[in-house]
Amino acid sequence: MLNFVHAGDPTPETVDGLELYKENDSFKPGQIWMDTDGKAIQAHGGGIMYDEQIKTYYWYGEDKTNGYLPARGVRVYSSKDLYNWKDEGLALTAIESMEQFTDDPLISQLYKGREDKADILNDIGTDRVIERPKVIYNEKTRKYVMWMHIDGPSETSEAMYAKAHAGYALSDSPTGPFVYQESNRMDRAPEDADYNGMPDQPGMARDMTLFKDDDGTAYLIYSSEENMTMYISKLNDSYTDVVGWHRDGKEDRDSTYKAVYGEDYIRVFPGAQREAPALFKYQGKYYMITSGATGWDPNPARYTVADDIFGDWQPMRNPAIGEKASTTFDSQSTHVIPVDPEKGKFIFMGDRWKASDLKNSTYVWLPIEFGQEDEIILQWYDEWDLSILDKMGRVTINTELPKKVTLGETPNLPDTINVTDSEGKQMDTSIIWEMDTEDFSKPGMVTIEGTLPELADKVVRIEILVIPNDVKYFVHAGGAETNDYKLWTSYMQETLLNKDIIDQQYDPENDQTWGYVGDRTSPAGSEGGDLFSALRYLTPNSGTDLTYTFNLDNGDYTVYLGLYDPWYNSTKGSRKADILFNGEVHTKDYVFTDAYDVIGGNVEISNNLLDVTIRKTNSPDPQISWIMIVGDEQKKDVNVSSMLETLTDHQSELPESVFHSLHVHLTAVQHYERQEKGEKIVKHMSRFIKLMEHQKDNGQVSDDIFNVLKRDAETVMADWQ
Ligand code: GAL
Repeated sequence: MLNFVHAGDPTPETVDGLELYKENDSFKPGQIWMDTDGKAIQAHGGGIMYDEQIKTYYWYGEDKTNGYLPARGVRVYSSKDLYNWKDEGLALTAIESMEQFTDDPLISQLYKGREDKADILNDIGTDRVIERPKVIYNEKTRKYVMWMHIDGPSETSEAMYAKAHAGYALSDSPTGPFVYQESNRMDRAPEDADYNGMPDQPGMARDMTLFKDDDGTAYLIYSSEENMTMYISKLNDSYTDVVGWHRDGKEDRDSTYKAVYGEDYIRVFPGAQREAPALFKYQGKYYMITSGATGWDPNPARYTVADDIFGDWQPMRNPAIGEKASTTFDSQSTHVIPVDPEKGKFIFMGDRWKASDLKNSTYVWLPIEFGQEDEIILQWYDEWDLSILDKMGRVTINTELPKKVTLGETPNLPDTINVTDSEGKQMDTSIIWEMDTEDFSKPGMVTIEGTLPELADKVVRIEILVIPNDVKYFVHAGGAETNDYKLWTSYMQETLLNKDIIDQQYDPENDQTWGYVGDRTSPAGSEGGDLFSALRYLTPNSGTDLTYTFNLDNGDYTVYLGLYDPWYNSTKGSRKADILFNGEVHTKDYVFTDAYDVIGGNVEISNNLLDVTIRKTNSPDPQISWIMIVGDEQKKDVNVSSMLETLTDHQSELPESVFHSLHVHLTAVQHYERQEKGEKIVKHMSRFIKLMEHQKDNGQVSDDIFNVLKRDAETVMADWQ
């Protein structure tokens, strides 16, 4: 019997021995999720199958009631709305002993007449690993087909993950009972592969998922080569094996392995060590989300996109944004639910494993948001419901928007843009941009969000690169020519002194008038990384200082440093350093984190030398991602004429009379500027600032416009003082 308690009380209570269940109408990622009996859902590392015929979702997953072991098998839950799940019992039951094949009513009946009972027990014994089950329906055989990672000791090793097999089970009903069939090693790296993560153990299969394409072709996707390489293998018509092992066209596997690479299977990013695959298709493209391989600990997810499932998968990116993006919000991917693929409605399913208490591991379900081009985004929500999916589909911006601004300026963005909505319709629509002037005060990529009120409040994101004028040096420490290094420097060409050299050692006697000091440093990361992830570090036992020296003309400079710790998951904030410019401490005890950080400071050079030192104050050793040295030409670019232009750029955001009065004022000062009457310029500029202050207080000039013009006015005044 079901009882409902009042809304707002999420926890079941026991009254007179009855468990109470409050119906869910939202998702609460990371919180304990109760089934309709009021018990915590046990479907870890799982996946969802939607049964078209009975319009019901089925959630299959590892039952970890006993913790890691003894395994209980695969549990299944049913739901009509994705919020409320009814326990349908064990879909696949793990087996305790050989005796159960004769004594247990269910097991004896399921496996009656089977001659491979010992093998079955060896695969799905309660002392075995049965992980990441997924189910799809086969129209031809009318069977529900479950695939899973089957592991345990092998003939040669007692280790728990030595077997590395994929196994499958069949059922006539979505809720089971599934009858276990067998497990095997799967596809193999081609003989001539450049890379092979585990040549001695061909065909390994561990973390896995299934994907059924629109034409009914199904694929098994699994971590192979000791988890170093992800494989995508086509399944045969009955979904009971990878096709690559049946080149002879027989029911039995071929006696030798004859699979054709690119036709029967492919390997995705050999050596990238990805786990926990989840695959889905949107607007004709294939998306795969994976995790790194750090056991039960979370790590950053990555996704990759391809036009063809056996085609070229594009470089991997992290879909998560915001706080905890580097741990995928403390979760590991397991499946993506295509709720309404036509409309761009997909749900990311992850597991928040609790290594010390696996049964209380929770689930992290989040909406998948489609960005520009083929970008996907995962954002955290404490609580959300399906209505949010209305604004997740892709909306493409057709209007050309700025890609770069000069440091200190804010981009000028239109109030109306032309878009193509997720159903392919093109239209003009109003947009409300959210901008923080602070974001434009340091070099780097700034993401600006715009909300489309006429399109269900869909949020679109654009990226604008902030680059100062007059960059003299831009050094990517370590020397990796990453894509973003190329992009940033493309805007510095007129002033950059180190155009051809990304990084070098300081050796003035040999004309190397800038660079890292000494030979106790090493580069880390590569071209495939970015400006932050590739860096230079001080090698262990090499003292405390990582220093770069530059021979520079005397004058005023601004120095910016890019800092990041790619190993933050293990250093956890222990890596600390003082940051010094010419021997003076700029930042004390800087803590390296997993955030892409930029710090900057002004330095006056009077002896033709600039030293940037990262001095270790706590282990491990210091490191630096990039250094940018900016001259003061930037200021000279600002004059009254440029201020008039800036003002005109913002004309539409100002009341007409306000625009007019500011314009008149500046035109007058421009007159003095032409006559080089410094005193008058300074006097009128300070009045101009007062005038704006007054208008700002009256709510007629926004903070943003005020800040930009005030800063410019001060620069002009400083030039003439
Ligand atoms: C994870 C994997 C899980 C489980 C775990 C065991 O990396 O994704 O499915 O096998 O390791 O440590």
